[in-house]
Amino acid sequence: MKLVDNKATLTFSNGSPSVDLPVYGGSIGPDVIDIRKLYAQTGMFTYDPGFLSTASCQSAITYIDGDKGELLYRGYPIEQLATHCDYLDVCYLLLNGELPDDKQRGDFHKLVTNHTMVNEQMQFFLRGFRRDAHPMAVLTGLVGGLSAFYHDSTDINNPQHREIAAIRLIAKMPTLVSMAYKYGIGQPYMYPRNELSYAGNFLRMMFGVPCEDYKVNPVLERALDRIFILHADHEQNASTSTVRLCGSSGTNPFAAIAAGVACLWGPAHGGANEACLNMLEDIQRNGGVAKVGEFMEKVKDKNSGVKLMGFGHRVYKNYDPRAKLMQETCNEVLEELGLGNDPLFKLAKELEKIALEDDYFVQRKLYPNVDFYSGIVQRAIGIPVNLFTGIFALARTVGWIAQLNEMISDPEYKIGRPRQLFTGSPRRDVPGAKK
Ligand code: ACO
Repeated sequence: MKLVDNKATLTFSNGSPSVDLPVYGGSIGPDVIDIRKLYAQTGMFTYDPGFLSTASCQSAITYIDGDKGELLYRGYPIEQLATHCDYLDVCYLLLNGELPDDKQRGDFHKLVTNHTMVNEQMQFFLRGFRRDAHPMAVLTGLVGGLSAFYHDSTDINNPQHREIAAIRLIAKMPTLVSMAYKYGIGQPYMYPRNELSYAGNFLRMMFGVPCEDYKVNPVLERALDRIFILHADHEQNASTSTVRLCGSSGTNPFAAIAAGVACLWGPAHGGANEACLNMLEDIQRNGGVAKVGEFMEKVKDKNSGVKLMGFGHRVYKNYDPRAKLMQETCNEVLEELGLGNDPLFKLAKELEKIALEDDYFVQRKLYPNVDFYSGIVQRAIGIPVNLFTGIFALARTVGWIAQLNEMISDPEYKIGRPRQLFTGSPRRDVPGAKK
């Protein structure tokens, strides 16, 4: 963070003295006005619900240009990473700042593979849940529960503990997500197989059974790996900020990541892929493509409470670059599975076409986000709708961990503690209380 040759001056119409505020510049993107001393100098706070104009930290991990529709992990465009790297390369990049060379790649893959099993006792913990529990409820519990199993990596201030916790979380998430799935359908858990790729191993743990061999389909393996890459990080979104805020108290990494899982669950965030597929299925049940126009009228009617799920984004005011890549993967997977005429895919494309031409969406700069097509891909692979957000959590774990570790290593970090504009009752007395 460097001072730029500029400063902001805040003046007040009531004659209070004006204050100069330093301005810092990053490597790209908007400059920031440093208001840390504002309260000390003026007795005032800033007001910014939803953090529309507030940078909560400095970060060197992910950069988004929402107007251009650009997403960079450590400077590399998402399109290049999605076509030239696998998910574990991207994990290495997010955690370490550089892509691995051949040796680093081999060592990292081996390290993650060696940590894929979970403590056998986790099975009994899982059994405490109802079979019909939502997988995100189960995952929030299991991830938080890891801190009870791995005492030797819970000191967030110890860099080695942070590194071991990072590898453990990345390695064990696929095992936990597939265990949550198998538990729900009453099938035996599948232990990981170390000779398979990260995505291939996950497919086998999800869809394999102990009484048969499971052959990984390379098209589905690549599709899943791409879903993981596209969801790996997305700078200071709601769940990542939750992880940072939670971790800022010094809590252990497993607890902080569990907070991220809980936040991701919401339909305005990671739950959007589930909500989007439910929406498509609903429209299909009620008449499909023929009813798209009627549905869009409801979306535009503010009183209906209906939103076009998978559309719109706080940061992207242009096409989400991940949505393009996801649409490509959607084509590949549906073709491989002989589902080229999938009615939901047709419906999604029709909705997108109408929305991109409709004034309501054009004026508000609403474009498809990554979740618009990812649900169709996951459904085609055989992943049940209520597990979609769990897959997102699996993929985002590396981003959460990279951001958490970056925060802890930042000498400027403090416990997160926002202020408020109080609008409640001033001091008053309980009837009968001594004044
Ligand atoms: N359908 C219809 N109208 C929408 C939609 C939508 N999906 N998204 C935004 N709008 C409208 C809003 O009603 C608002 O209209 P107004 O100006 O007339 O009041 C305008 O567009 C601006 O929207 P905001 O809600 O102010 O934008 P914000 O940045 O706060 O919200 C959000 C972004 C939450 C993602 C929103 O677009 C949304 O709810 N989308 C649907 C859910 C979704 O797909 N979420 C996934 C996000 S990506 C992710 O987490 C991986």
